[in-house]
Amino acid sequence: YENVSVLQSARKIPARVVTNDELSEMMDTSDEWITQRTGIKRRHVADGETTTSLSVDVSRELLANANVAPEEIDYIVVATMSPDFLTPSVAATVQGEIGATNAVSFDLNAACSGFSYGLSVVQKLLVSDEPKKAILIGGEVLSKLIDWHDRSTAVLFGDGAAGMLLTNSATETGAILGSDLRTLGELGKYLTAGQTGETTPFQTDQPEFSRFFAMNGRRVYNFAVKNVPISIEAALKQANLTLADVDHFVLHQANVRIVERIAEKLEVDFDKFDTNIDEYGNTAAASEPILFDELVQKGKINRGDVVVLSGFGGGLTIGTIILKY
Ligand code: ACO
Repeated sequence: YENVSVLQSARKIPARVVTNDELSEMMDTSDEWITQRTGIKRRHVADGETTTSLSVDVSRELLANANVAPEEIDYIVVATMSPDFLTPSVAATVQGEIGATNAVSFDLNAACSGFSYGLSVVQKLLVSDEPKKAILIGGEVLSKLIDWHDRSTAVLFGDGAAGMLLTNSATETGAILGSDLRTLGELGKYLTAGQTGETTPFQTDQPEFSRFFAMNGRRVYNFAVKNVPISIEAALKQANLTLADVDHFVLHQANVRIVERIAEKLEVDFDKFDTNIDEYGNTAAASEPILFDELVQKGKINRGDVVVLSGFGGGLTIGTIILKY
């Protein structure tokens, strides 16, 4: 057993919507600036929901819709850069709450590339001489990492979670056909969040630290536009496919201009690049599976379609997966 098929997808989005106009009342920004520069119109922000509670809800929905019992799950992986605790992991808490007593569970942090990295990790976990099932979730509450006085980052991010129930069962026809993961750690300083700091009594200096996002937007923008097309081409080559074989490009939703530039560089019609950043902003590891689940629900992604999932962001990291649905 080694093929990985998507049995089910699901998403959970906080109900509270924050519009660009609402942000304009809090800081020196405008709907016009945010829309023109990013394509974002609103974002959903947690009001009581946590990364864990959103991930639990996604897991329950995956199981219910696929008619799978929690004990049948072998692995739970949560891709997140905004866990509620350093320990226990979000995944371990999800395992306990849904009663998936047989599931080995852990979190994975590759920021906005987390879901693509997660698919690659789950693919390797599911190489087995037995049929197995895994839940992979991208879950984020980024609003807790935002300085709500900093217009350069506060307008960009949102909260949400989504995931997939995956299996290696030979009776399913889906597959991961190719992948390409890259890490450029020397560029990591251009996008940071969640610094934990050091506050022991043995510290001679007490250096300042901040848990808030700090980003050189232009650097990250250029990094994405340069490297994502290279990664997509490499993953397709590994899969023995060409751009013409792809039905849908599900890219990380950080900025609609980035997606447009990537489509241009690849010389692929923008129609194949669906976006939903207007509704959610950048939800890091959750963005690819939220968009994927919406497209499945709308009947746009159908069984047998070839889907490119590609994420980029903190690390800096890039991850592309070629998925046959
Ligand atoms: N409202 C109004 N003005 C603003 C705002 C705002 N919210 N934010 C910045 N500005 C101003 C700046 O101060 C600057 O003013 P100045 O010219 O007087 O200095 C001007 O707008 C232009 O700012 P830039 O930063 O140059 O704007 P740019 O066109 O680069 O857009 C943006 C910024 C949207 C952040 C863009 O660079 C971007 O999308 N970068 C990529 C971010 C990204 O992809 N992150 C993904 C990874 S996220 C992750 O991994 C979690």
